[in-house]
Amino acid sequence: MKSLYWQTPPAPYWKLSKDRIGSATAGEARLMTTAFITGITGQDGQYLAELLHGKGYRVFGLISGQRNARAETVASALPFVELVEGDLQDLASLIAALEYSQPDEVYNLGAISFVALSFKQPELTANISGLGVLRLLEAIRLVGGSPNPIRFYQASSSEMFGKVRETPQSELTPLHPRSPYGSAKVFGHHTTVNYRESYGLFACSGILFNHESPRRGQEFVTRKVTSAVARIKLGLQDEVALGNLDAKRDWGFAGDYVQAMHLMLQQPEPDDFVIATGQTHAVREFVELAFAAAGIDDWERHVRIDPRFFRPAEVDLLVGDASKARRVLGWAPQMSFDELVATMVAHDLEVEQRKLA
Ligand code: GDD
Repeated sequence: MKSLYWQTPPAPYWKLSKDRIGSATAGEARLMTTAFITGITGQDGQYLAELLHGKGYRVFGLISGQRNARAETVASALPFVELVEGDLQDLASLIAALEYSQPDEVYNLGAISFVALSFKQPELTANISGLGVLRLLEAIRLVGGSPNPIRFYQASSSEMFGKVRETPQSELTPLHPRSPYGSAKVFGHHTTVNYRESYGLFACSGILFNHESPRRGQEFVTRKVTSAVARIKLGLQDEVALGNLDAKRDWGFAGDYVQAMHLMLQQPEPDDFVIATGQTHAVREFVELAFAAAGIDDWERHVRIDPRFFRPAEVDLLVGDASKARRVLGWAPQMSFDELVATMVAHDLEVEQRKLA
């Protein structure tokens, strides 16, 4: 990976957002819309980068750390992404990264996103998933000036609803987080709204319910299960250890959800939107369906309950009301729950079979 931090932007980098083209000189007129994505190595970052690239965007991705192993993965899987070094914990690096990439749209998907980890590293979680949002908004405010042409998307989360006050949950449901992760996301969410109201930034918050795919990390329950199911099917292991099977989640497909992120930034006004399927399933149902998709009926024989995977406080039930997104953005999920489970199991069977070959 090339180090970009200390370089000054190459010459005709200067670009203007769509609504500023009117006053641009010929030399200044932009050729491509540019997006800047934090969390580029994650599931959502990858789907979003592909979506935007397909729409003709120039795509920059923020990469943190020294010899970040996942940067190599992104470089080979998404060769069109231009990687920029920086960290959500370091305001100066964010300013430099934005000055370098001159984005029209910034998508903040970077976070400590694993709820269980947030209980073990609460301060780090608050710093990256909470204060990181503030730093990025400050960087946008400083780099974009006034009126600020940079549009901002914040990855808010249904974890913010926590101990839910109503069902289904909408943009108006009161927040009651149940984890350091949820609390950090609440801070990021309110900060996004505050920058919109204080400085007139085009800042949107997408309150996304759980969204999965074959690209999901194996620490999350869905991929942990589908990966184990594939290995059990092939005789490579006999059981999988899980925690609370009674928790209920509204699970959708990540590829559908990144479309909503993009749509939010194309609206005439910034706003907040719940993105969800409107259906909820217990973890137990996911497990049963995943085993069934691999042709295994006696799933209970292969599942061991392990207290290590229970959390100090649980979010028992999530189900979203995405009617505002449907009405305003024209967004609706495309992939059903059954299809999602089947797709993930099929992918993991293929991965494990390839390893055996
Ligand atoms: N990870 C995990 N591992 N979860 C388990 C396990 C296990 O072995 N056993 C049961 N669960 C339960 C968890 O207790 C939780 O209730 C549910 O499965 C889902 O856990 P995760 O897949 O880890 O996701 P999450 O709901 O905590 O958080 C995800 O969704 C949020 C949106 O609501 C993450 O993607 C967050 O980053 C995201 O904001």
